[in-house]
Amino acid sequence: DLAPIAEGQVIKVFWRSKPIFIMHRTKKEIEEARRVDPATLPDPQPDQARVKEGYDQWLVLIGICTHLGCIPLAHQGEYDGFFCPCHGSQYDTSGRIRRGPAPTNLAIPPYQFVSDTKIRIGAA
Ligand code: FES
Repeated sequence: DLAPIAEGQVIKVFWRSKPIFIMHRTKKEIEEARRVDPATLPDPQPDQARVKEGYDQWLVLIGICTHLGCIPLAHQGEYDGFFCPCHGSQYDTSGRIRRGPAPTNLAIPPYQFVSDTKIRIGAA
């Protein structure tokens, strides 16, 4: 249920024993994610490909660092997204790796919107 998650807030839930981050992004966080040229990123992906169309404010991620599996901290690091203190990987407000040893962006679990304020995580 997304309704209680305030703009600017990130919550953590568990799905199949994996931590899932649900981030209610602010306008500024969305703009930051979209300002960067995806071609310059280590794992090039436009922000638009990481959210559902029409739900740009909602970022849903598997909260496991793609380096060696630590759980990154939300709203930390130089890119205002996620920071993994284990070896210093920095992710942006789209969960994309920007700096550090992690090879790929934070993964996105399968999910769908079942209403404007509810998502179901898991295969459709
Ligand atoms: Fe996250 Fe190494 S496990 S940086």
